[in-house]
Amino acid sequence: MVLNKSKNIIINKYTNYNEDERLVKDRAHNIEFLTTMRYIQKYLKPGAKILEIGAATGRYSITLAKMGYDVTAVDLTPKHVEIMKQKSKRLKNFQCMVADALDLNMFKDNSFDLVLNFGPMYHLFNLKDKNKAISETLRVAKKNAICMFAYLSSSSLIPYSVRTNDVLHVVSLMDKTGRAKDIPEEIFACSYIEDFKKLFEKTKSKYITNIATDGISPYMREWIEQLSKKDYEAFKNWHFMTCERLDHQGLSCHLLYICKKK
Ligand SMILES: C[S@@+](CC[C@H](N)C(=O)[O-])C[C@H]1O[C@@H](n2cnc3c(N)ncnc32)[C@H](O)[C@@H]1O
Repeated sequence: MVLNKSKNIIINKYTNYNEDERLVKDRAHNIEFLTTMRYIQKYLKPGAKILEIGAATGRYSITLAKMGYDVTAVDLTPKHVEIMKQKSKRLKNFQCMVADALDLNMFKDNSFDLVLNFGPMYHLFNLKDKNKAISETLRVAKKNAICMFAYLSSSSLIPYSVRTNDVLHVVSLMDKTGRAKDIPEEIFACSYIEDFKKLFEKTKSKYITNIATDGISPYMREWIEQLSKKDYEAFKNWHFMTCERLDHQGLSCHLLYICKKK
């Protein structure tokens, strides 16, 4: 695999970050995981063959393999693949390897019933690479397979920067329309929902829905943590009920685009 400068930046970032804990470290983070799993389960068919691209340490992939699905997981960061190998030693229906979302040549066309592109779009900064990641994901999906793409929202940048006391710096990363500029050194690429949807216009796919996977929970982590069990359940259920509503979506830090391969 040929690694350019921006790929090395990504690998360095994740090699020095505890991604394994991210989705379970508190209630607010867990909402992203639970919401995403709800939609995976909504579209999963018995016996489905699943590919996750950008699987990190296998939070989704290994969960799905433990549920009995045949799962293949790939990631760019060798440390993550090592962790997945350690965690999945006893799972016969799970395999993982280092691979780049831009080149999935190890997989034939029309191979998987569900393809989860859960990380690469956060780190792709030019149109050519974004298109390539989408076309590779769709290529390896079977006809009528569901494909899901996780991405980050431009609209969440300033609200989140208030939490991190970083507003002026974040303003400098945006153009006059509030769109995040493509700056690989900043690690994360963000999109408006309308711009992300446009990436699919010329692809052989049919739009199904777009989900706010964490909604407003990242902004109020500490308060969510302090809620009583019953209040937390009520908050979570409100989030599940509203996460497909357009008026709730922009501020969500994490978004999920769901489509069907034609
Ligand atoms: C924020 S983590 C997301 C992990 C997990 N799938 C989730 O949804 O929580 C992003 C992952 O994508 C991987 N990644 C980034 N660019 C990639 C690429 N071009 N190809 C494959 N994996 C990539 C990173 O190594 C990292 O493990």
